Amino acid sequence: MTVTIVGSQLGDEGKGALVDLWGGDADVVARYQGGDNAGHTVVEDGDEYKLSLVPSGAVRDKVGVLGNGCVVNPKTLFSEIDELRDRGLDPDVRVARRAHVIMPYHRVLDGIEEEAKSDSDLDAGTTGRGIGPTYEDKAGRRGIRIGDLLDPEVLRDRLEYVVPQKRALAEDVFGIQAGEAFDIDAIYEEYRAIGERLERESMTVNAGAFLASHVDAGESVLFEGAQGTSIDIDHGIYPYVTSSNPTAGGAATGTGVGPTVVGRGEVVGIVKAYLSRVGTGPLPTELTGDDEDLADCIREKGGEFGTVTGRPRRIGWLDVPMLRHAARANGITSLAVNHIDVLAGLDEVKVGHSYDLDGEELLSMPATTERWGRCEPNLREFEPWPEVDWAAVAAEGYESIPENAREYLDYLVEEVGAPIYAVGVGPDRAQTIELQNPFEQ
Ligand code: IMP
Repeated sequence: MTVTIVGSQLGDEGKGALVDLWGGDADVVARYQGGDNAGHTVVEDGDEYKLSLVPSGAVRDKVGVLGNGCVVNPKTLFSEIDELRDRGLDPDVRVARRAHVIMPYHRVLDGIEEEAKSDSDLDAGTTGRGIGPTYEDKAGRRGIRIGDLLDPEVLRDRLEYVVPQKRALAEDVFGIQAGEAFDIDAIYEEYRAIGERLERESMTVNAGAFLASHVDAGESVLFEGAQGTSIDIDHGIYPYVTSSNPTAGGAATGTGVGPTVVGRGEVVGIVKAYLSRVGTGPLPTELTGDDEDLADCIREKGGEFGTVTGRPRRIGWLDVPMLRHAARANGITSLAVNHIDVLAGLDEVKVGHSYDLDGEELLSMPATTERWGRCEPNLREFEPWPEVDWAAVAAEGYESIPENAREYLDYLVEEVGAPIYAVGVGPDRAQTIELQNPFEQ
């Protein structure tokens, strides 16, 4: 049995809480794309763990796998593992030998290119972690993979080919002084030591074979998507996207199990009751102008500041065409809706039900971002719901959610065409009301 958790919006939907909740029923939790751009906060008994690379299941003693579709900054990996160990946990993390490594020059180039693009409004507002440049090198067949760190000769050969190119790019194209991040010998020494630690701690695996053996043994695997559908490189708002596939198809290509393995399981779309966005680009339902105060209120209450970068997030009403798009692109079989408590006590609650584009009503997202930017949302208003004791609601269950909020949830079920399996009414794991465990089908 597999369960795939995908972000239905722009990332930051609160996937970590659900992965953590259902990860308890999984034997293995695998990430299939992205890298240390994915901030997830897991709250366990009031203890907060901020992770950006280690799968959140690690907080619950699960085997965590970083699949071949991930890009791995080994320094982040080790610092997160070391911190979890310092806090008394014993995370078991395995890394695909086919996963690509984020090298020091990737991070530098990420920053330079964003800077260069900013004159033309094409900067994506990246997290600056080197994600895009690493995926570029993967597609350009000049990347360095985790498996290469284990083999001194291969590592040396690869570096000798690629680093001079990167140095020339930095110096001749972007006109910056290339420093240590572009020094073959320094990189070689550091990354050989990393390879030795990976080997010493038996952390590397052939991810596809490793996961298949668990699936074949009848164990449960949870695929943890990072980011969200609308920042998917293929299905998102290109070019304001991340460089991987957060959509459910990525769970197969990014781990090495077949799409049938993923498709036989559940695909749970995680939805936040409003929108937030750390990056640039259009956002039709954004709360701006007269609605700035409302945006501030939601931002503060929802803690909408980037986990990785600390940047304040832009805020908007829930965008339902975006959800219909996500339902199709992922084959969503069920939903988990988070943060309905954040909208409590507002004077008004709205959603973008459809778009108006050039006099036509659209129910889903257009394929170009320029057209999406010209969409005017047709807002639908809901009766607001009051502030209540959400901890008590969480303890009592779904029926104790205020009636108006339940109407809002019923509307989502109807529009997206999938049942709700969980509702988040607060940040702690205990504040997620479970209606159905996707592993118990
Ligand atoms: P990158 O993934 O750092 O290359 O950033 C590309 C785009 O994806 C930017 O708009 C980022 O803000 C956005 N992004 C990357 N990771 C996350 C995430 O975990 N949550 C929300 N947005 C993200």
